[in-house]
Amino acid sequence: MQTIKKNSNNKLIIANWKMNGDINKINHDLKLYASLAKTNSSNILYAIPMIYLAHASYLLSKYHANYQLVTQDISIYNDLGAHTGEISAIMVANLNIKYSIIGHSERRAFQDHDTIVMQKITNAIINNITPIYCIGESLDIRQNCAQNELLLAQLQLLTQMPAKITNIIIAYEPIWAIGTGKIPTIMQLSDIFNLINNFCCQYLTDVKYKIIYGGSVNPHNIQELSTHLTFDGFLIGGASLKNDEFINICQTLII
Ligand code: PGA
Repeated sequence: MQTIKKNSNNKLIIANWKMNGDINKINHDLKLYASLAKTNSSNILYAIPMIYLAHASYLLSKYHANYQLVTQDISIYNDLGAHTGEISAIMVANLNIKYSIIGHSERRAFQDHDTIVMQKITNAIINNITPIYCIGESLDIRQNCAQNELLLAQLQLLTQMPAKITNIIIAYEPIWAIGTGKIPTIMQLSDIFNLINNFCCQYLTDVKYKIIYGGSVNPHNIQELSTHLTFDGFLIGGASLKNDEFINICQTLII
């Protein structure tokens, strides 16, 4: 199958804060990032904890910032109602937030199995939220060389959606690389990029898609990762929490 090389300009940088940060950090970081040319880019997306998103969206307009906000998850329920503790995609869209991470391996560990992930992607789509769909194999699967089958099965879900996908970001995040300081080799990453890209070319023909990588991205490896790879961007956890490291990564990636 032929691989189409994707445009590697304008990399997307998604900062996944996970369950970290507090109101002081939100105030400090969002002000700082609005003031720097390299971090105040529409290609930089902040997935801060849900509880701070309304405040962050106020800060965004206060600073006339260009960066964007992302939710780390959304509810399987779309309709508003008696779902204690849940946050609907409708509410996310209400804040004018255009992206949601869905199916992160840390959520899958809390029972977000395929049917739930499909429902969440559907809810995102019908509310015009671009899903950032995370896929990736465990160490065990990688050691048994079964990663391609697993990734293809995870991608296959996208062909069975009840709603029509128009935009999607696919984040390849090998579980063994998340928070461990280990990253796949450039060769392994290129193979996976080609696998995902070929799948999209074949099955998601009228979908606008981006393919990004996540797992232990930091200022030390970003240069090599961005020089040698055709990925459209990076999902960054730990390093996105430290101002100096995050700014350094943005300086490398934002042209
Ligand atoms: P990490 O996390 O950069 O800390 O490895 C990435 C992620 O889980 O999205």
